Amino acid sequence: TASVIIFILISYFAGSISSAVLLCRLKGLPDPRKHGSHNPGTTNVLRLGGPQAATWVLLFDLLKGTLPVYLAYWAELDPFYIGLVGIAACLGHIYPVFFHFKGGKAVATAFGTMLPLGMDVAGLLLATWLVVVALFGYSSLAALITALVAPLYTYFIKPEYTLPVAMLGCLVILRHHQNIARLWQGKELKIWKRLPVKG
Ligand code: G3P
Repeated sequence: TASVIIFILISYFAGSISSAVLLCRLKGLPDPRKHGSHNPGTTNVLRLGGPQAATWVLLFDLLKGTLPVYLAYWAELDPFYIGLVGIAACLGHIYPVFFHFKGGKAVATAFGTMLPLGMDVAGLLLATWLVVVALFGYSSLAALITALVAPLYTYFIKPEYTLPVAMLGCLVILRHHQNIARLWQGKELKIWKRLPVKG
């Protein structure tokens, strides 16, 4: 159990590294916590800094979910504990110890933690997200629908991980309450809408 706690802590600390904030600082872009949707995540960095900056944020946020879970899997932890390690990474992203506990929505990180479940689950999730974006143009709506169906895909392909994935889905959905309000009011920005950089 000591190793389980160490894995969970490492995962939480890795998740707490806000690549969106750090990269924007590094590149002289506006602080994503204060501009656009005020969210330190890939979509908002795309809005504020463009595709290249967003790609780096996406890759880093994916990786900080994937690596701890993959290591836990490699160390042959029980599926229950591997699930906890994945949730810890997402909680780190949402409540980062290094950034006053004000983080993002954990879409990329949650997807990252699910990559070790295999390419069939990952492919279905990616396809779902892409189809919703292609149909409606909203990153948040795509994340919401993908979070909703993720436990279902997992149940059919890797049933032992259904519970942690359902918990991740709930976390992601709860973090989108402002997006849900904006979607409802027709005020949500489309994913390709760039915002002028004001510094
Ligand atoms: O990446 C999170 C996405 O689902 C919504 O982001 O910036 O539009 O609130 P944002």
